Amino acid sequence: MGSGTTLVEAKLLNRNAVGIDINPQSVFKSETNLQFKCETQSKIYTKVGSASDLHFIKDNGIDFICTHPPYANIIKYSKDIEGDISLLDVDDFLCKMEIVAKEAYRILKKRKTCAIMMGDIRKNGKVIPLGFLVMNIFLQIGFVNKEIIIKEQHNCRSMQYWKKQNNDFLLLAHEYIFVFQK
Ligand SMILES: C[S@@+](CC[C@H](N)C(=O)[O-])C[C@H]1O[C@@H](n2cnc3c(N)ncnc32)[C@H](O)[C@@H]1O
Repeated sequence: MGSGTTLVEAKLLNRNAVGIDINPQSVFKSETNLQFKCETQSKIYTKVGSASDLHFIKDNGIDFICTHPPYANIIKYSKDIEGDISLLDVDDFLCKMEIVAKEAYRILKKRKTCAIMMGDIRKNGKVIPLGFLVMNIFLQIGFVNKEIIIKEQHNCRSMQYWKKQNNDFLLLAHEYIFVFQK
């Protein structure tokens, strides 16, 4: 959920939605951002929980998954919440993402779509292609690739920091939106 962007869009589009985040603060923020009036009748549910354990959602029950996980531990969303994958280094993060991908596959209806946004990261001067590593996990557990969308990033707050870190050389200036089908 983060701050609830996806749920806000779901509400505006008159779609029913279930939002999940491991961090209660994120759930609170999302609920606050959802408190606007609009003409639609959608039912929006929020829940504190982990994307790696969606036992409260039945198999083949969901029409569309839209998820934006942390990019391993490049930004930490909490200090010590158990299950927060933004606290994991790349290897542990990828192991957990395999469980997340399996849960996503389980709850999605056949032939429906799962979209995930993911970016690459830079560690110790090297690029780790986290986007493609995560994409491969989703492919290995059974999803097929419908689209690879490149989302360009301009004028980010962190740009000056990374320019300095990288001696004004190339910046990671895009993220991916992988669109999978079950
Ligand atoms: C990149 S942010 C999402 C931002 C969101 N797209 C928005 O527009 O605000 C990633 C979110 O994943 C959450 N998160 C971390 N581990 C999680 C887990 N195991 N299950 C569900 N959410 C998790 C973090 O608390 C954080 O809010």
